[in-house]
Amino acid sequence: MILFSQIVIAYLKLRRGVFFSSSYFSSIRVVSLMSAVLLIGLNSCTHERAINDEDIDIDTDGDGILDSEEIANGTNKNDPCDPVQNADYTAYDALNIFWTTSDCDNDGISNSDELANATNPYFDEGSVNDLDFAVPEFLPKLSELRIFQGDLSNLEFNNEVYEYEMSTPLFTDYSYKLRSIALPKGEQMTYQGEGLLLFPDNTVLSKTFYYLNDERNPALGKKIIETRILIKKNGTWMVGNYLWNAEQTDALLDEDAHIIPVDYIDDQGTNRMFNYKVPPKQLCFQCHDKNGSTIPVGPKARALNFSFKGKNQLQHFVDMQLLQGAPDVSQIPVLPDWSDDTISLDDRARAYLDVNCAHCHQPGGSYNLSFGDDFEFRYESSFEDTNIFETRVAIQGRMTTQISGYFMPLIGTTVIHAEGVELIEEYISSLE
Ligand code: HEC
Ligand code: HEC
Repeated sequence: MILFSQIVIAYLKLRRGVFFSSSYFSSIRVVSLMSAVLLIGLNSCTHERAINDEDIDIDTDGDGILDSEEIANGTNKNDPCDPVQNADYTAYDALNIFWTTSDCDNDGISNSDELANATNPYFDEGSVNDLDFAVPEFLPKLSELRIFQGDLSNLEFNNEVYEYEMSTPLFTDYSYKLRSIALPKGEQMTYQGEGLLLFPDNTVLSKTFYYLNDERNPALGKKIIETRILIKKNGTWMVGNYLWNAEQTDALLDEDAHIIPVDYIDDQGTNRMFNYKVPPKQLCFQCHDKNGSTIPVGPKARALNFSFKGKNQLQHFVDMQLLQGAPDVSQIPVLPDWSDDTISLDDRARAYLDVNCAHCHQPGGSYNLSFGDDFEFRYESSFEDTNIFETRVAIQGRMTTQISGYFMPLIGTTVIHAEGVELIEEYISSLE
């Protein structure tokens, strides 16, 4: 039905003389013939009400962006390849005839043929060159790592750098985070169960922290603070941090602690000000070490197993030949999003504790190595094994105090996470 109405509307637009680029013309002629036939049928059943396409908000060109939005953004609602998208774009409508017949990466192969060949309609594989890959070295300037391309402050990833998102993110003083995975040419990640993916040597993982000046309107700009990096060399993960300059043109490798005053307007219109703490290099290990070795924390299969930008992330990595050995994604557990209140309170609270606390509070984690395994917060542990019930008073006390050094999480935040505390308090009272 959607396709049918799109065809009808496309036909109406054609009659009204809307311009289409010449590459679509041959197919449109066929479509308009078909739709003329369909339109006769439609007219006969909807006599009284004339179709007015301005009434209907649709995505005419199938690029995944509604016409109204394209008009608002000044892009062409009849051109599936405008706006230009990154190689990892997947929100297109693969049934839309304008989209299928176009060639968004200009490699001479139509979008639909690319899908049929399992190549990327937004990326010309023939053009892959070394400059598309991140550099797995801690060079002095972030720009030299080629994680981003173009004007650095746009935070646009390079062609062979893939953004990912966590199903339930870590709270860090309300900052926004942008994460990426960059594998060396021709290499893949390997699935090894619902936990951490196995990465090849010379993988570069990045996480950039920033604040929107006004959360109600992203167009008003942002302040980028730091880009944290993990690079795997000879089986060992190394850490490095890049501090952004005031002009936001680049970031420099920096091992020290910094306090950056942050001042922005939140989504409720409230002005927020605090001192953001950039951790020094030695503190990275407090959260990223397990049994004394540095490891990534986030990219576990279960934390990536959800839809991001219109497609399941793990499936996307499989399709792009970046991930091997994974079963069907429906068989992989999902770490629930703690903020999704359609999910049970128990699951949300356990997911929150997993992502915000378990990196230190797990066997081999920095707390347990010094204080023993009395309690821990891994999502996969049974409730009895975690001893959350026995520790409930301390958990609540530690999350609500303002006393630094006593406050949990021990490092990484400076303000109390009101929404997180509310969730954990509700959870703890449900255990009584
Ligand atoms: C307070 C604990 C904490 C500290 C301190 C910390 N991290 Fe992390 N980091 C995490 C957690 C938890 C994640 C996963 C969740 C996420 O991505 O939001 C993460 C994610 C990352 C990632 C993305 C890949 C991954 O491991 O998930 C990078 C890169 C990273 N951290 C680098 C660093 C570097 C470099 C430092 C030191 C400058 C650092 N981190 C300090 C807790 C911490
Ligand atoms: C950066 C590592 C780190 C993170 C992250 C962290 N903790 Fe801790 N936690 C510690 C250390 C180290 C101690 C022991 C030192 C102390 O007692 O203050 C501790 C102590 C505690 C205690 C007291 C245990 C006792 O013996 O009384 C509780 C409860 C606790 N943490 C809960 C949490 C919760 C809940 C979170 C997440 C919201 C969290 N922690 C996040 C490192 C961490």
